Amino acid sequence: MTAALEIDDLVAGYVVEPVLAGVSFEVQPAEVVCVLGPNGAGKTTLFKSICGLLETRSGAVRLAGDDVTRLRTERRARRGLVLAPEGRRLFPGLTVEENLTAGGFTGRDSHSVEAVLTLFPRLAERLSSAAGKLSGGEQQMLAVGRALRSGPRVLLIDEPSLGLAPMMVRAVFDVFRDLAAEGQAIVVAEQNVAEATRVADRCLVLSEGRIAFSAPTRTPEERAHVQAAYAELLAIGDVERAG
Ligand SMILES: Nc1ncnc2c1ncn2[C@@H]1O[C@H](COP(=O)(O)OP(=O)(O)OP(=O)(O)O)[C@@H](O)[C@H]1O
Ligand SMILES: [Mg+2]
Repeated sequence: MTAALEIDDLVAGYVVEPVLAGVSFEVQPAEVVCVLGPNGAGKTTLFKSICGLLETRSGAVRLAGDDVTRLRTERRARRGLVLAPEGRRLFPGLTVEENLTAGGFTGRDSHSVEAVLTLFPRLAERLSSAAGKLSGGEQQMLAVGRALRSGPRVLLIDEPSLGLAPMMVRAVFDVFRDLAAEGQAIVVAEQNVAEATRVADRCLVLSEGRIAFSAPTRTPEERAHVQAAYAELLAIGDVERAG
């Protein structure tokens, strides 16, 4: 089976010392993969370089087998590589409906506005509200809904739980499972290890510019294993920072 997304030895950063020092992983269709890492680990840097918002120094990004590494962000989106960015980046003055309409720019066969509203019924009640007036959870639903309107082959979602009440986090993450059941490939950057392991098929941990480990999280035992390993890695980081 051709991977939906293939990241091969990606190197990227902002200064001489790269943030990503050779990151490799694959995501299959219908799979939810969570990239775990603390603040500053490089999750956003990884998602930006996958989408072409940040130029990569070396390595490759392949979408359904095609090398897209040299394509501009918009061209990647038109082929189905779609990002729901950190902080949501909605149009705050536009209504929910207008934000959803704007998401349809790629012209790909995508979720209709109605399909997004079926997935997120809360948004249906707020259709004519300004996006900036929504609760954090509703804004995150709208950000995911807008991304779905672009017809993603691979949907990248950067820290969806940020600032949300636990119930809202669950509501948003439950939708990731529903989407995967329809065949959608999803990559989520997170620090919320409990939610990440709850919905992911597999979790990757980003540390010191590399994937420190990757493990399945389909069973309670596998989830406990990843949670413990991640806690241990965070504790080591704390000791090193305390020096
Ligand atoms: N525009 C930038 N210019 C210079 N350095 C940056 C820039 N953006 C991020 N960095 C640095 O790159 C590293 C990785 O940052 P990044 O935002 O990718 O982490 P993150 O895992 O997304 O963190 P968070 O969980 O806080 O969002 C950090 O050391 C950060 O300070
Ligand atoms: Mg980030």
